[in-house]
Amino acid sequence: MTHSFRDLLSLEPLTADELTFSLEPLTADELTFLLDQSKLFQEIQRHPLKKLATLRGKTVALAFFETSTRTRISFGIAAARLGADIMNLQAEASSLKKGETLLDTAFNLNAMKPDCLVMRHAASGAPHYVARHLDIPVVNAGDGIHEHPSQGLLDALTIRDRKGTLSHLNVTILGDILHSRVARSDIHLLGKFGCRITLCGPAMWVPRDLEKIAPGTPIRCVYRIEEALEGADVIMMLRVQTERLNEPALSPNDYILGYQLNAGRLRRARPDAIVLHPGPMNRGIEITPDVADGPQSCVLEQVTNGVAVRMAILYLLVTGATESDTHPALEVKPKESANASD
Ligand code: CP
Repeated sequence: MTHSFRDLLSLEPLTADELTFSLEPLTADELTFLLDQSKLFQEIQRHPLKKLATLRGKTVALAFFETSTRTRISFGIAAARLGADIMNLQAEASSLKKGETLLDTAFNLNAMKPDCLVMRHAASGAPHYVARHLDIPVVNAGDGIHEHPSQGLLDALTIRDRKGTLSHLNVTILGDILHSRVARSDIHLLGKFGCRITLCGPAMWVPRDLEKIAPGTPIRCVYRIEEALEGADVIMMLRVQTERLNEPALSPNDYILGYQLNAGRLRRARPDAIVLHPGPMNRGIEITPDVADGPQSCVLEQVTNGVAVRMAILYLLVTGATESDTHPALEVKPKESANASD
């Protein structure tokens, strides 16, 4: 089978309407291919000199209309390590402030001839809308409460590295699921590998409807953290997304009492369970510092893996490479990479 990708907009199955501008939904086989491509880029992160010439002469546009630390910098450094130039829209300092529309902004960025656009926006579906109007690949770096596909991929790579497999794991996602694009991408991705998903949090943020969002994937909503953690192989923590709330939040004390992951509660999970958090973490609220920094935590591994995953995404989308092409990480010896982009 030949894998090729035009855009990376979502991990959920797309509707017929969306299929008019994007390729078919990613299968487990295609996701495995993306993870295998990412795996080879992990090696580059360990080299003293990390730069390749794979995308020399290409340009990656970053347009973040919402705040970001990890994702924006990770895509930027991924592009740089592939040898690409970067166009960086600073939304706060841009002509959006003067009333320019999202689409006009995208058209103007595109007029400077980037080879790919990575965008984050507070509106669900905004990257899909822009992709429909551009002839370059568009990567969704997080859209509202919809999806965050590169986060889903880096979570999957981290889980696969630590557990040796993605298949048939018990995955517990804890927190504000309703407003979480990370949870949606993780559910759609891990469901394709037969994982069983438990969602847990305050009832207003874990509505029972969520049990049906990925047909074929066993999803259950529970409201007691002790029950949610029983037998978990993987625990994914989420923060309360106060910027997206329309309803009053729980008080910090009530949240801590009901849903904070602490060392005592973690012991309910399997002894080899791992803990993930996409960041930013609110230490002392959804997670205690000893758990966040403990041996079961993968939080910083996730960030490191994010660069490898984003290198794979940019490489595949910009070059259109398939599995018949030699992977760039296999083409260079560590010492050679020093001069690769000169
Ligand atoms: N995980 C994540 O999306 O973090 P940022 O909001 O800092 O990009």
